[in-house]
Amino acid sequence: MPEKAFIFDTTLRDGEQSPGCSMNLEEKLAMARQLDRLGVDILEAGFPIASEGDSEAVKAIAAEIRRPIVAALARANQLDIDRAWAAVKEAERPRIHTFLATSDIHLQYKLHKTREEILKQISWAVGYARSFCDNVEFSPEDAGRTDRSYLIECCHAAVEAGATVLNLPDTVGYCMEPEYEQMFADVKARVPGMDGVMLSTHTHDDLGMAVANTLAGIRGGARQVECTINGIGERAGNAALEEIVMAIYVRRDVLPVFTEIHTEELFASSQLLTRVTGVAVQRNKAIVGRNAFAHEAGIHQDGVLKKAINYEIMTPQTVGMPASEIVLGKHSGRHALSKRYEELGYQLTKPELERAYELFTRLGDQKKNVYDEDLIGIVNEGFEHLPEMFTLKLFQTVSSSAGRSTATVELEKDGEVFHDSATAEGPCDAAFCAIDRIVGVPGTIADFSVHTVGPGTDGVAEVSIRARFQGREFTGRSTSHNVVEAAARAYLQAANKATYELKRAAESAAATGSVHSNEMVDRFFPGGY
Ligand code: KIV
Ligand code: ZN
Repeated sequence: MPEKAFIFDTTLRDGEQSPGCSMNLEEKLAMARQLDRLGVDILEAGFPIASEGDSEAVKAIAAEIRRPIVAALARANQLDIDRAWAAVKEAERPRIHTFLATSDIHLQYKLHKTREEILKQISWAVGYARSFCDNVEFSPEDAGRTDRSYLIECCHAAVEAGATVLNLPDTVGYCMEPEYEQMFADVKARVPGMDGVMLSTHTHDDLGMAVANTLAGIRGGARQVECTINGIGERAGNAALEEIVMAIYVRRDVLPVFTEIHTEELFASSQLLTRVTGVAVQRNKAIVGRNAFAHEAGIHQDGVLKKAINYEIMTPQTVGMPASEIVLGKHSGRHALSKRYEELGYQLTKPELERAYELFTRLGDQKKNVYDEDLIGIVNEGFEHLPEMFTLKLFQTVSSSAGRSTATVELEKDGEVFHDSATAEGPCDAAFCAIDRIVGVPGTIADFSVHTVGPGTDGVAEVSIRARFQGREFTGRSTSHNVVEAAARAYLQAANKATYELKRAAESAAATGSVHSNEMVDRFFPGGY
């Protein structure tokens, strides 16, 4: 029967210690709310002795976040423990987390204390913390490099003094999995009075082993795991929460635990942390990186399109990511290409697909990714040289911040001038509606982007539009000093391409006698064909 692994998040404490990741009170509160939504069991809110700001942040989190246990860190001395308690005492379920180094290296070069002195200090500090709070965690810092028999003595001292959680940190990310697992098994078997005391992992990623070691600790008997969102933390970081949680979820067949994390909040948590700290995760970061569910190799794309399980061990939706992304590049195959064309509204025949594929691979050699605009450009190659069916003669818009906008458009086709007006929320929308009324085939905008060319407010606006007409997408691009005019011209270009292409489709349907009923047929062959 699997047991629950309690998730102890230390993004706001160990994570915040990482360069570039410090957060102010508002940012910490926003993160704490998200961690609550994520369902973490314990939230380490900070190290109150470190600064007034940290202390205030822990107080604010303790006062607001009610469901999880809220922990505050303290060294094993009176002032730290007093500060930690003062900051966390308003929490619904407060915890004091106190720590003291136990490895000979730290004793000799950092603390300049004997093993006996450390043992006494552990007993005193845990006892003192227990005088305030019945939930006390003790961490023998650098446990991973501590002599095993001495570690057992330290843990015993902490348990005797009332520690309810024993956390065994691999502070410097030095341990190998079997060593880390064995440490838990030893402490569990050799420390008297362990009933009711929870063992906890805390791993750093200096050798890239943090998550693997956390899972090893679980196998050794730990039921609390300390980790951070995106794996931020001292030096190479802490074990990444999202990786641990998903490893436990995906490999529940071999791991003896489950978590109560709402996995669909993982991506949002990662994104919020990125926004708050400005520190982005690498593209290929497991679970939450931009490429975590993106497939580019042709064989992989083909496999995923046939059945996602071929190359995906979890769905992007499980971690709250919108959808798998098929990134079209030079490694993509025909299957992915034709699927994307279908999504863009193009049912390509075999020869059409062959020709598009050839142009696409040529383009893929020149640029890294091939975008929808490029694909549409490939199938509509030659459109740029077509005479415009409708040309823009005049356009006028009236808009105000208080209400709707009106656009009047004058178009010319074969020497005949048409004009019409429309009203909509914004001036661009109004111009598009007026164009639709004249051209007779309404379009919807799939993508609209503006960028300015040249400096200052007198720069030229370049508008690119992708619009869908009768289920197929067409692009248009135009530049002008007037953004609305550039938008209207770009839209008209797309509408012209659509009109041409749909007319051609209607004509070929008429020539082959195939039954083809759509608005374009009615428009170009009003009497039927
Ligand atoms: O890495 C470490 O040892 C720590 C302790 C304070 C738990 O962060
Ligand atoms: Zn740490």
